[in-house]
Amino acid sequence: RSHKIAVIPGDGIGKEVVPEGLRVLEAAGRRFGFKVEATHFDWSCQRFHETGRFMPEDGLQQLSTHDSIFLGAVGWPGVPDHVSLWGLLIPIRRHFDQYVNLRPVRLMKGVESPLRGREPGDIDFYVVRENCEGEYSEIGGRLYVGTENELAMQETVFTRRGVDRILRFAFELAMKRKKHLTSATKSNGIIHTMPYWDERFAEMGKNFPEVKMDQYHIDILTAHFVRYPDRFDVVVGSNLFGDILSDLGPAVTGSIGIAPSGNINPERKHPSMFEPVHGSAPDIAGKGIANPVGQIWSAAMMLEHLGEHAAAEAIERAIETVLSEGGPRTPDLGGQARTSDLGEAIAAALG
Ligand code: NAI
Ligand code: MG
Repeated sequence: RSHKIAVIPGDGIGKEVVPEGLRVLEAAGRRFGFKVEATHFDWSCQRFHETGRFMPEDGLQQLSTHDSIFLGAVGWPGVPDHVSLWGLLIPIRRHFDQYVNLRPVRLMKGVESPLRGREPGDIDFYVVRENCEGEYSEIGGRLYVGTENELAMQETVFTRRGVDRILRFAFELAMKRKKHLTSATKSNGIIHTMPYWDERFAEMGKNFPEVKMDQYHIDILTAHFVRYPDRFDVVVGSNLFGDILSDLGPAVTGSIGIAPSGNINPERKHPSMFEPVHGSAPDIAGKGIANPVGQIWSAAMMLEHLGEHAAAEAIERAIETVLSEGGPRTPDLGGQARTSDLGEAIAAALG
């Protein structure tokens, strides 16, 4: 078996952690009998500076011939973040209909939660974020610019198709787990789109009578994430709410450097994209001290999606073994190891 992977290291520490992800992918391939055929793309802020574009005009077409996309992080001081997001990530997510952004939030063995008294096993849930519509829309603009009446507006778009398919995915995931689904909403303040989401949530729930359903306003839900992260199983939210929750989740499990994510097209009509939750970390870039675990765990999610279940599980186990049995630790985990030390140790732990 062979998997064709489009690799986009991007900027900053993306270029440092992606090679560790590839190292572990290759080690897993040797151990479990598959090949990784990687094609590298230098799409990044640097390329944007040089050419005015993040990717060539036929960039999406080039990606489409791959089984999966493996991304580091994109963004760098000097290029406004919305330019890099809309120049690369959002076109990829939307073109390939990667409407699920899936983020596991799990307290790993060997990682200390900033919350006191939490043990591995206590925190183990998924955030399912809608990834193609919602609050991240291009509809809106400014009026009366430069006057006292100046205003900016932006519309949220919830389509029945878009809302139903993310809810269905979340219910199905809950069915494979503890059968508990929490919906993030804000229907008291946002009176058109959010009540619509709630309605579709209730409607979809009728197809999944075994699933225990909860819904909270986003404000109190963020507090619950911090105080009671052990109460969740699957949490579903719109593009914006899901984004916020899926950064908060990893924050309660230790280091942002550990958390993985998948931008998934569940129908597998198009390639899905896997990337760590963290960004390019300009403050530590170039020092060789970034934690590669988020990237490596993203590689495991990618393999799971490609049907390499045994390899995916083995990588997760290898990460836990290294973190819990005295292996090298990068500074964010309280150690002095380098990025490559941790990558090598995880590859070696695969056996
Ligand atoms: P960030 O995640 O890059 O950094 C936040 C903090 O966490 C920094 O102190 C950083 O040193 C630390 N950190 C992040 N990853 C780490 C790792 N693997 N090991 C150790 N420490 C780590 O977020 P920030 O600073 O808000 O964004 C920096 C740039 O990255 C921006 O241009 C932003 O747009 C971009 N970004 C890109 C993302 C993507 O490509 N999907 C996601 C998030 C941000
Ligand atoms: Mg985010």
